[in-house]
Amino acid sequence: MELRSLPDDFVWGAATAAYQIEGAVAEDGRAPSIWDTFSHTPGKVDNGDTGDVACDHYHRWPEDLGLASRLGLGAYRFSIAWPRVVPQADGVVNPAGLDFYDRLVEAQLEAGLTPFPTLYHWDLPQAQQDRGGWAERATAERFAEYAAVVAERLGDRVTNWATLNEPLCSAWIGHLDGNMAPGIKDLTTAVRASYHLHLGHGLAVQVLRESVPGAKIGIVNNLSTIEPASGSAADLAAAVRADGHINRWWLDPVFGRGYPEDMVKLYGVELPVREGDMELIGAPLDWIGLNYYFRQFVTDDPSGPAPGFRQVRGPNAEHTAMDWEVHAPGLEELILRLSNEYGASKIYVTENGSAYADTVTPEGAVHDPGRTAYLEQHLAACDRAVAQGAPLAGYFAWSLLDNFEWAYGYDKRFGLVHVDYETQRRTVKTSGLRYAELIAAHRSR
Ligand code: IFM
Repeated sequence: MELRSLPDDFVWGAATAAYQIEGAVAEDGRAPSIWDTFSHTPGKVDNGDTGDVACDHYHRWPEDLGLASRLGLGAYRFSIAWPRVVPQADGVVNPAGLDFYDRLVEAQLEAGLTPFPTLYHWDLPQAQQDRGGWAERATAERFAEYAAVVAERLGDRVTNWATLNEPLCSAWIGHLDGNMAPGIKDLTTAVRASYHLHLGHGLAVQVLRESVPGAKIGIVNNLSTIEPASGSAADLAAAVRADGHINRWWLDPVFGRGYPEDMVKLYGVELPVREGDMELIGAPLDWIGLNYYFRQFVTDDPSGPAPGFRQVRGPNAEHTAMDWEVHAPGLEELILRLSNEYGASKIYVTENGSAYADTVTPEGAVHDPGRTAYLEQHLAACDRAVAQGAPLAGYFAWSLLDNFEWAYGYDKRFGLVHVDYETQRRTVKTSGLRYAELIAAHRSR
């Protein structure tokens, strides 16, 4: 397999997130986040799993960065835990929390890995939630203050910054469906949360621009291609609403286009916009991050929560252990959409990957043909998008390690590296070896 069109300086990476791998939730001054609260609430996470220990990355990070180097990665996308850095609502900075990320960044640079930190990957300090969380404007302001603290400490060594990871999940799954922290099910709260997440992003961009000269700043969205489940007028209209809810709501404002009118009308919730907000939210970015996993088939469902559609299983397709359809052309389509429709000047695939039920053989290997094929098919899709002119600059596999898959707990494994949670033993899977091979081949072509 040859990836002919990817540019020579293509960034090869893998991604993780703090709560999913770090563990050490009560160490060195970290305070609980909404995910500690949620995962410790009976019935919220499969098997009652929590992130208390996770991959114990807080202690094992040298080994994990070693694995990233062994795969030949050039970049590492990780997230910074707000509850380690500014644990409480009083705004007092916890130096030990900052020290941890300082060490992590130093070690990446020494290992030749370009750090791509994300400032928010869903672990809002519980103390902020207790004051209303993302439903309140103050949380966006506190987020910008936290961003300033991190920028001041790491800005001399970190160039590439992501503000938010998948605000859709924070707002829609956390505040509308209730299946993620903080577990709220209320449309008004969800729409307000989406707005304040965007505002927090805009304020953080401003702060980063002021304190990190030359910073390259982006936001990471999870997008899906949408198909109507049938050709009926109702399903076609549902697909337009689904596109609004899943894609346009998250892209239009950050590309300076404001919120999509049809969706504002449909939600019927007044956005708490103040003068100057939309300019902040839509301020130009250096890159846009695309997390792509699957395509969605949708059907009209007026009985469901707004915006009145339901996802259904696609026909005759292969699915991963998450029951997500494997559909690599969707990645190509979305990269081209960002480039052609939104005019994105630089795109990273900031996450892409698949969960399969992996097992370790008696010889200590992990063979994962499904994930290997998924990886190859999606890299080929990237290559096709670049061949058509899309400014794709890099790809980050999700994930470097098996980890805490939110409400699904530890059963769903996405890693290129297998983690035995009993022993914390790491084993590079066949997919990881294949990724290393493809990276090496691309570099030496
Ligand atoms: O594990 C998550 C990650 O935290 C955000 N993007 C999707 C991944 C797989 O569900």
